Amino acid sequence: MPNIVKIEKKIGDFQKSITIPGDKSLSIRWVLFSSLANGTSTAKNLLMSEDVLAAIKAVKKLGIKVSVNNNKCKIFGKGIDGYKYKKNLRIDAQNSGTLGRLILGLLVNSPEPIYLVGDKSLSKRDFRRVSDPLSKFGVKFKLRNNNCLPLKISGSSKLKPIKYNEKRGSAQCKSSIIFAAMRTDGITTIKAKKSRNHTELLCKHLKLPISIKSKKKFDEIKIKKVKKINSLNYEIPSDISSSAFFIVLTALSFNSQLIIKNINVNPSRIGIITILKKMGVKIIFKNQKTYKGEKKADIKVVSAKNIKAINCPTELNSGAIDEFLVIFLVAAKAKGVSYFKNLGELNQKESPRLEWAKKILTNLGVKTITTNDTIKIYGNPDLNLDLKRKIIIKNYLKDHRVFMTSVVAALSFGGKWNIHDKDSINTSFPNFLKIIDYLKK
Ligand code: S3P
Repeated sequence: MPNIVKIEKKIGDFQKSITIPGDKSLSIRWVLFSSLANGTSTAKNLLMSEDVLAAIKAVKKLGIKVSVNNNKCKIFGKGIDGYKYKKNLRIDAQNSGTLGRLILGLLVNSPEPIYLVGDKSLSKRDFRRVSDPLSKFGVKFKLRNNNCLPLKISGSSKLKPIKYNEKRGSAQCKSSIIFAAMRTDGITTIKAKKSRNHTELLCKHLKLPISIKSKKKFDEIKIKKVKKINSLNYEIPSDISSSAFFIVLTALSFNSQLIIKNINVNPSRIGIITILKKMGVKIIFKNQKTYKGEKKADIKVVSAKNIKAINCPTELNSGAIDEFLVIFLVAAKAKGVSYFKNLGELNQKESPRLEWAKKILTNLGVKTITTNDTIKIYGNPDLNLDLKRKIIIKNYLKDHRVFMTSVVAALSFGGKWNIHDKDSINTSFPNFLKIIDYLKK
C-alpha cells in the first residue's frame, strides 16, 4: 500500500453526523492512573492509536497486566506501589510527548535506573522542561545533549516536595510534577499558567489529596502523597483536537453541515471554538453533559459565509495549542490580516509547526510573515487553487497534524496534492481518512 495520499478534487457539500475516536490526553491519563489503582479498571472508547498503545506497553513493562478487546481495555492495577522495576528497563514513548513527560513523574522513586527513549521526532524535543523540576525532588537525570532523549532517570527513596512555577502553560509539565508529588511525602505546590486540566479533574474524581485555587491567569495546586487510588471505570469522550479537522473542513466547504458526537469540551480545550466563533464560524454545542468532572457535548458546525480576520488573544493559545495549524487555514480564507502571537511553543511540537504553517500557506499562495513566535496571515476570501498548482508535502517528521491539515487544505482549496507519510495518522487518529471518505460519499 503506498504511503501517500493524492488529492486533486475539492470536497462536495455534505450534511452528516460523525463519531470521532476517544480523546488522546484522557486516554493516556486513564492508562497511567489505572496502572496505579487497586484492582481492575475498564475503559470504553479508549483511543486505539500508537501513542496510547505506547502507554499500554510502558505500564506492561512496569509489570502491570493489561487486556485489550476492540476499544475496551482493562488494566489490572496493583496499587500505587505496584510497579515492578527490573534492571536495565527501557521504556519507549515512541512519538508521544505526553507519555514521555508524564511517565517520568511516576518513575521518581524507581530503585533501578530506567532508560526513556522515543522516535526521531520525540528525540528532538525538549525534556529539560520536566527533568529540571523533577530533579528538585531529588531525582537524577542524564539527558542526551543535556536536553533530549534518550535519557536515564535514577529515582530516589528520599523524595522532597517542591515549589514549582510552571510558566509555559504546559499541561505535560504540570501533570508530570503532579504525578511526582503523588509519590512524595509533604506538600508540593505548583503555580501553573492555565493549561488543560484533565490530570487535576481525574485527581479530584478519584478523591486524591489535591487542592486547586483557580486565579485568573494561573492555578495554585497543592498535592500530598497518595496512599491509594481506586479503580477507574471510564468512558472516554471523543477528541476535540481530532474533531478540529472536521470543524474546519465544514467551515471552509460550501452548503455543508456536520454534527460531531460526544466530544470532550473541557473549557481548557475549546480555544478553537472561541477563535473560530470570533472569526464568524457558526458552531453550537448540543446535549451538554458533565461526566466525571469533564464536560462533553455534540458539536454542530455549518459552512461559513464571511470569515473575519482575527488578532488572536494570547490567553486563548493554550486552549488551542494543538489546533493552530488547522485554524491558520481558516485565517487563509478570512477577509483581512490575522495575527497570532506568543506561539513559540508550536515549534516545540511533533514538528516545528510554525515553520510548517508558513510552508503550507505559502504553497497555497497565501502571504505570511513569521517570527520565531508570531505569524501574520494575509487572508484571501476567494482562495481557490487550480490543478496546475502542484503541492508536495513531505519530510515533516511524520507530524500527524501536518498530514491532516494538508488533507483539509487540499479538500477545501483545490490544487494537485501529494501528501506523504499517510501512516503518520496512526499516532492519534487511525481512521481519519475513512471519515473523510464517508463525507465524500
Ligand atoms: C498535552 C498537552 C499539550 C499538547 C499535547 C497533549 C497533554 O502539550 O500539545 O498534544 O495531554 O497534556 P504541552 O503541555 O507541552 O503544551
